[in-house]
Amino acid sequence: MAQIPSTNQQTTTPVEPANSGNQLLRCKSIDKLIAEADEPEHRLKKTLGPWSLTALGIGAIIGSGIFVLTGTAAAGEHFEAPSILHAQVLDLISNFLRTGSTAGALMHGRPAAGPSIAISFILVAFACSFAGLCYAELASMIPIAGSAYTYSYATLGEIFAWIIGWDLILEYVVSNVAVAVGFSGYTKAQLAAFGINLPDQWASPVWASGHWTGAYFNVPGFLIVFILTLLLVRGVRESAEANNVMVAIKIGAILTFLVVGGMLINPANWKPFAPSGFAGIVTGGAIVFFTYIGFDSVSTAAEECRTPQRDLPIGIIASLIICTILYVGVAVVLLGMMKYTTFVSGKAAEAPVAYALQQLGAHPLFRSIIVVGALTGMISSLLVFQYGQARIWYAMSRDGLLPKLFSAVHPKFKTPHWSTWIACFAVGIPAGMVDIGDAADLSNIGTLFAFVLVSLGVILLRRRQPDRKRAFRVPFVPWFPLISIVLCGGLMTGLTVITWIRFVVWLTIGLIIYIFYSRHHSEFAAKR
Ligand code: ALA
Repeated sequence: MAQIPSTNQQTTTPVEPANSGNQLLRCKSIDKLIAEADEPEHRLKKTLGPWSLTALGIGAIIGSGIFVLTGTAAAGEHFEAPSILHAQVLDLISNFLRTGSTAGALMHGRPAAGPSIAISFILVAFACSFAGLCYAELASMIPIAGSAYTYSYATLGEIFAWIIGWDLILEYVVSNVAVAVGFSGYTKAQLAAFGINLPDQWASPVWASGHWTGAYFNVPGFLIVFILTLLLVRGVRESAEANNVMVAIKIGAILTFLVVGGMLINPANWKPFAPSGFAGIVTGGAIVFFTYIGFDSVSTAAEECRTPQRDLPIGIIASLIICTILYVGVAVVLLGMMKYTTFVSGKAAEAPVAYALQQLGAHPLFRSIIVVGALTGMISSLLVFQYGQARIWYAMSRDGLLPKLFSAVHPKFKTPHWSTWIACFAVGIPAGMVDIGDAADLSNIGTLFAFVLVSLGVILLRRRQPDRKRAFRVPFVPWFPLISIVLCGGLMTGLTVITWIRFVVWLTIGLIIYIFYSRHHSEFAAKR
């Protein structure tokens, strides 16, 4: 494994890593990373404080997931055509170990969590909180835009950094394609309710569920990403201000739902509480993990914070706590309003929150508030992920692993404008063309993989540089990071075989790019 010299004191002079041998395992010195980020041509504007960072976290975390997935995760799913590709990896392994065959794995469906989906939310929050603590320590120690990518470069070596940088595209780009397509569908449905019908050819995916739909382009999906890009290029402060407003609106909408829906609860719906026992809770957890993705994106704002060492941990942990409370509340109320089996298909599955309010006769005003909240949630989530993706590419380009264009900073606005525009088209064009549907599970696996490596990074850096200043320290190292690794790894095994296959294919493509391009352009390559 690569070695970082144990320079125990903070120096201002960039320190070269000792491991000059194998380029693949060379780590970047933390001092050098920090010094490079301060070079005038690469310096970003520092405007964010603890409130904006927490709002950035909530902005990313609460997207479409809570308004959509809570119902389907509670109701479970039945596949018409059973396939091994839909089996959970964990189920497959345990069946194989027990019986020597994979035949008994749950390939024809996903067990219902029922009202116990509230427990799934708590369990996932528990798993995420360990990873969140690890992000907080590394972000306070290495306040650099690249997040998990940069932490891996400083701890595990170049090849791991590349893999994680490439992997994070799954978290940021793929999830945003899914959210942008969801935004388009939701907007279309809501406008139709007001008698405004967008033409199908220009407002639906061109390719969905394995066939051409006859549509030309999904304009709303592209347009929302394009408009947000204009805002993001204009400035981080402007974007953060817009985000603050959107966060206030969506929290207001969720609180409205908790009060209005709370009055429509029938406690009989909470029984049976866990219809499929622990299996349902875990499977539900693997699905609702998507709703928590985003707290880590706070760390991509590291170079634009005024006091990153203090405020990044606050932003990460506070946003996670606030969202957990809101999510558990939504789950308890929604599953108290209607029986979990209601949400198995149709409109009830697509928009369970709005559906339950409508069915139980809530005033249309409240339904409109929820719709506005859901749309705002999607917009702010799109905004923060577009922001984060651009920052990660920016950091990778500064290290030479991506072309220099990606780290160009706008002369006036001081934002990485090229990266931001490339992220716009990387998300906007697919969002205009395809409905990636279940490929959104790729975001889950990609994010969980990043969490595992970040947790490992904390353990390694504590051993190699024990005395380096850490404004925030994870308690009980190595145990807490190890718990994070086990829980996130466990959630990865809750994903399906097809998701794992897609993940491996994606990483293989990344490795090919590394071998033919990045390896030769990395600054370590130049010094060999
Ligand atoms: N956590 C984000 C959402 O739920 C991705 O939409």
